[in-house]
Amino acid sequence: MKLKPSTYQTAIIKAVEENLAKPIKNGITVNALAGSGKSTLLVMIANVLKRYGIRPEEVAVLAFGNKNKADLSKKFQEKLGTEWSESVRTIHSLGYQLYRDALFVRHKLVKIQDWKYARIAERKGWMTDKNGFVGKLVENDIPAIRDEQEFIRLLELLRLYCYEPTTENVAALNGEYRLSIINNEVVAQAAKECLEAGEDEAIFRYIIDRVDMCYLPWKQKDNSPFSDVIAKLRRQLKVIMVDESQDTDQLQIELIASLIEPGQSFIIAVGDHYQSVYHFRGCLNNGMEILGKRFNCINFDLPINYRCGQVHLELVREIFPHIHILARPDAPTGEIRVISNKDLEQEDHLIYVSLTRVLANGSDESGILYLVLREREDGVMFPSWLPEKYCQLWNFN
Ligand SMILES: Nc1ncnc2c1ncn2[C@@H]1O[C@H](COP(=O)(O)OP(=O)(O)OP(=O)(O)O)[C@@H](O)[C@H]1O
Ligand SMILES: [Mg+2]
Repeated sequence: MKLKPSTYQTAIIKAVEENLAKPIKNGITVNALAGSGKSTLLVMIANVLKRYGIRPEEVAVLAFGNKNKADLSKKFQEKLGTEWSESVRTIHSLGYQLYRDALFVRHKLVKIQDWKYARIAERKGWMTDKNGFVGKLVENDIPAIRDEQEFIRLLELLRLYCYEPTTENVAALNGEYRLSIINNEVVAQAAKECLEAGEDEAIFRYIIDRVDMCYLPWKQKDNSPFSDVIAKLRRQLKVIMVDESQDTDQLQIELIASLIEPGQSFIIAVGDHYQSVYHFRGCLNNGMEILGKRFNCINFDLPINYRCGQVHLELVREIFPHIHILARPDAPTGEIRVISNKDLEQEDHLIYVSLTRVLANGSDESGILYLVLREREDGVMFPSWLPEKYCQLWNFN
């Protein structure tokens, strides 16, 4: 069935069409809650691009993680066919392609090693090795870092933040991620050595880890042969779409930036900053905002929710009055039931307790949203944020 775009989706599609004609293009961000039709919008936009004669190889649709990629690719497959579904890829696969094209190396010859940087740090004597040879980072009475494993995290974070391994940058990451570093200067020196060795291994021995897939092309972007393959792809692309863009890290933003040429291409990034949960892994916690600034984006909203009943969204508005959210025109009324955690075992329905999950999954098929209260010996707990009228739905018997 062909979906009719909402007025909000139509406004964004119009902005895309106008952008195609502009000599210098701005980016477009869509920051909207779960279930508001963001991914669907990307498919609608691709349809319009196709009508304008843009070919699938001129469009990159980037997703985060294989599961998101598979879901989005399926949507593209259903609405636009195989050729367009092949435009959907993870950002890692894009980085990895640039890496392999630059070095002219087949996938079979590349060794993808998650433990690559731990091995390098051990070989260089910075970390304690398997034979128990104590690493230089921890050999003194006052170690340079308390927990050696955090050094591996630091090497990952430096790459994800596109930071040079300077004392100041190490101190900044130590502050933000509590990496147990005591001597920033020594740790920065160790990081510099390990990252340089890692880069050499990637280029000369084809050994990489997952972060290297994006890091190498970015780090080498001004040097041939990487600069050549990046320039080639930059000339080819007209639109880069990014789904779930709340989960971007600085490295991904910079890699995308190297592929955008405002005279001929632009980014369309959709995401929901309320769903950004990967800061601990090195994603930016204000990724959409940074992305918006980096690509000179106009921001749009999609306030219609397509997954929930009317009363469920009324609940959301009551608890979060600042959130602009509306039911779709033909939304069922829906129902809210208040139960306790003790009732949970008897219920075979799905239970939703957090806002994001309510919006992401909607109510279950029967249209019932369960609010689960904690029950203790002295009675059930009503959370302070729950409006009175919902407390009254609780069955005291
Ligand atoms: N214009 C529309 N008319 C009717 N249904 C729509 C429309 N746009 C989207 N939908 C439906 O809304 C539901 C949610 O859409 P979609 O998955 O695109 O939302 P999303 O914002 O990407 O959600 P999430 O944040 O969970 O990824 C889907 O079932 C989709 O078919
Ligand atoms: Mg989506």
